[in-house]
Amino acid sequence: MSAFIFDLDGVLVDTAKYHFQSWSAVADKYGLGFDAALNEKLKGVSRRRSFEIIVGHNGRAVDDYDVSEILNEKNRLYLQFIASINASELLPGTIDILSACKRHGIYIALGSASKNARYILEQTQILHYFDIIVDGNDVTKAKPDPQVFQLASRTLGLKNEECTVFEDSIAGIQAAQQANMHTVGIGDSNILTLADITIPDLSYFDFKLLHK
Ligand code: BG6
Ligand code: MG
Repeated sequence: MSAFIFDLDGVLVDTAKYHFQSWSAVADKYGLGFDAALNEKLKGVSRRRSFEIIVGHNGRAVDDYDVSEILNEKNRLYLQFIASINASELLPGTIDILSACKRHGIYIALGSASKNARYILEQTQILHYFDIIVDGNDVTKAKPDPQVFQLASRTLGLKNEECTVFEDSIAGIQAAQQANMHTVGIGDSNILTLADITIPDLSYFDFKLLHK
């Protein structure tokens, strides 16, 4: 058997932009500089770690802030953005690749840092495809730590080498590689330089790409 382990935000669902917009608003409010380049470093990492990265980038100390309140604030904004999310926000190729996995007998796993993952899978009507879900509620170490992907392979009873990870973030590709899994970068190959292969979105996926 083998498994495809999918990241959620920016791979299956077009939610990365909402994380970006929520952090932009929070950064503005607290007078912290934030731009698209910095946002790349937040992709895939936990909510708390995201804030630490923003604060560090601005040469400030996390202790100067009421971190719990700021994380809640960011999540409240994010939840407003995704309040009415539906299947129209699935990214190109999502349904095709999930259906192809079912036809080929490949396990489907989620490996996401998000604590909102189940809600998004339900709202976008793809929850039923998943054999297992590992998300931000299940792990203690955020990507680039491999814990999220290792937990997925262990739960499925597979070897790490039998798993292929689909990721739009640098941290996620690093995590998958640390776990000795195959990696498919989703996005810009100039950014996801470490991935085994990179495609613009899942609609470009072809099983032949894995055997090159
Ligand atoms: C990841 C996103 O999927 O989930 C990150 O790429 C985000 O940007 C992380 O910080 C945690 O998400 P949430 O929904 O628990 O704040
Ligand atoms: Mg992502």
